[in-house]
Amino acid sequence: MATIELDHISKRYEGREVLSDLSLTIEHGECFTLLGPSGCGKTVLMRLIAGFDVPEQGTIRIGDTVVVDAEKRIALSPDTRDLGVVFQEYAVWPHMTVFDNVAYPLKLAKTPQAKLEKRVLETIALVNMTGLERRLPSELSGGQQQRVALARALVANPSLMLLDEPLSNLDANLREEMRFEIKEMQRKLDITVLYVTHDQEIALALSDRIAVMDKKGRILQVGTPFDIFEKPASLAVFTFMGVANFMAVRQENGEFYVGTGTQPVPWEKPQGTAKNWVAGFRPSDVVISRKEQGLRGVVKRANFLGAMMDYLVEVDGTEFRTGVETHLAVEAGLMFAEGEQCSLQFASLHWFDAAEMVEEA
Ligand SMILES: Nc1ncnc2c1ncn2[C@@H]1O[C@H](COP(=O)(O)OP(=O)(O)OP(=O)(O)O)[C@@H](O)[C@H]1O
Ligand SMILES: [Mg+2]
Repeated sequence: MATIELDHISKRYEGREVLSDLSLTIEHGECFTLLGPSGCGKTVLMRLIAGFDVPEQGTIRIGDTVVVDAEKRIALSPDTRDLGVVFQEYAVWPHMTVFDNVAYPLKLAKTPQAKLEKRVLETIALVNMTGLERRLPSELSGGQQQRVALARALVANPSLMLLDEPLSNLDANLREEMRFEIKEMQRKLDITVLYVTHDQEIALALSDRIAVMDKKGRILQVGTPFDIFEKPASLAVFTFMGVANFMAVRQENGEFYVGTGTQPVPWEKPQGTAKNWVAGFRPSDVVISRKEQGLRGVVKRANFLGAMMDYLVEVDGTEFRTGVETHLAVEAGLMFAEGEQCSLQFASLHWFDAAEMVEEA
């Protein structure tokens, strides 16, 4: 069983706390993603779990084994932790063939030759690289090198894989393809995967659960991709999870108005007594139309993005973005030109106190 339990982990560098009192449990067989901005401590946490560094405080348990206990000065060495690791700067040995790269961990473990060969070929097949065993990394594409790094991490049959931004060097198409492959591999092999990224799309597509971290290394929310996206626990999570629109709303004598104008908000009111509010939503939460219903607005900018039409609209001094699938826009007469009037309805909204927004900034 490869559960990972992190309990009250703190890590400092040069007197500066990078992780403070972090606790988290990752279940066996789960594809779990740590999602957070650059510099928030994701790689540091991976290094602590892998055993390349030790925390000042806390315990780490992998399965039934306590691999780190700062107080008792327990720290098992990386090679005894039964894990495969692919780090951010995936290093495949440039002078070794694909076969030798993948075989390397088994050679270190002094695996008998026949067994080694069988296992290496199996693993190369698993990452769809059969036929390329004799190539050198310089004769491979970036994506193929990435697969070699994955195969090398998988070859010793770990029950836990740590993947630190393993797709960062790939182009968009390959990245998309590889993320599905990683997910499929994880299911097929029934291993636990801890995946690290700052890319929310990858996190949403890949994960059973996500932990969102802030730039101070704190965990803001843990949940399924759906929960994190649809029910963000805070403004910070909401903002981090994709294009965020904010509409200013003010309260006057118990009524709520959009921007600086006189259009009352046509949806459920926020709970609370604050004067100034902000409604947060995604471009995909807005329905733009030529109907009578909804808020009246003006299209300020119309962008053709291929599959989508992207509109910047203004309602009484507050601007936000929305989109319509191009074919739908053509069929339904929703190809707006700049300066045209439109009406706007909303599928889902999150209310934030305007004071909270100032604090976050
Ligand atoms: N060995 C070290 N010595 C001093 N500071 C370090 C060390 N390793 C990491 N840090 C600092 O710890 C913080 C977290 O670094 P980390 O590499 O974990 O970020 P990250 O979340 O992985 O970012 P990215 O998404 O850019 O990879 C950074 O401020 C970094 O400068
Ligand atoms: Mg990193």
